[in-house]
Amino acid sequence: VKIEIRDATLGDACALVPLLEQLGYRSTEAQVMQRLEKLASTGRDVCLVAIRGSAVVGVAAAHISATLVTDQPVAKLSALVTDDHHRRQGIGEALVSAVEQRMRANGCSLIFLTTADHRDEAHAFYRRIGFKEAGRRFYRPIPAADDVG
Ligand SMILES: CC(C)(COP(=O)(O)OP(=O)(O)OC[C@H]1O[C@@H](n2cnc3c(N)ncnc32)[C@H](O)[C@@H]1OP(=O)(O)O)[C@@H](O)C(=O)NCCC(=O)NCCS
Repeated sequence: VKIEIRDATLGDACALVPLLEQLGYRSTEAQVMQRLEKLASTGRDVCLVAIRGSAVVGVAAAHISATLVTDQPVAKLSALVTDDHHRRQGIGEALVSAVEQRMRANGCSLIFLTTADHRDEAHAFYRRIGFKEAGRRFYRPIPAADDVG
């Protein structure tokens, strides 16, 4: 299976719409394009796509975070999806490896992610490729300033 991995470009926005939908995030092409533009501008974000033939069959995004408690920055994997017709062929693992390589080059010494409890397949995948499970995720929405007391 010949897979190429490269940086995402604005021209990938259209192909990313169905992939992000498979991840559970419905978005328009224009929205995806805007997000890609933002990510490209921070200098702290990486967005890679996996290409088979000429089709985008997977995507991974990650962010480099400086922290108060470690000397080296850490990498947060913020999105990962392989097109559902192309799963179990090593594409997800190849994307994570490519992200890791980039993050190493940026001085990161750890890569982490949060994942919803219902994503059983993803959990099996992460364990299989060497991630350890630790901690819990808490979140709450941030209300708009107008709504605050
Ligand atoms: C998780 C995901 C990205 C894995 O992508 P993939 O390209 O299928 O993964 P790979 O082919 O590289 O898998 C590598 C190994 O992980 C394990 N694995 C992957 N998917 C698995 C599954 N559904 N069940 C059990 N093990 C799995 C297998 O051991 C696999 O190797 P094998 O196929 O030789 O047995 C993909 O299932 C996906 O896009 N899921 C929907 C979106 C999602 O949940 N993303 C993660 C959000 S946190």
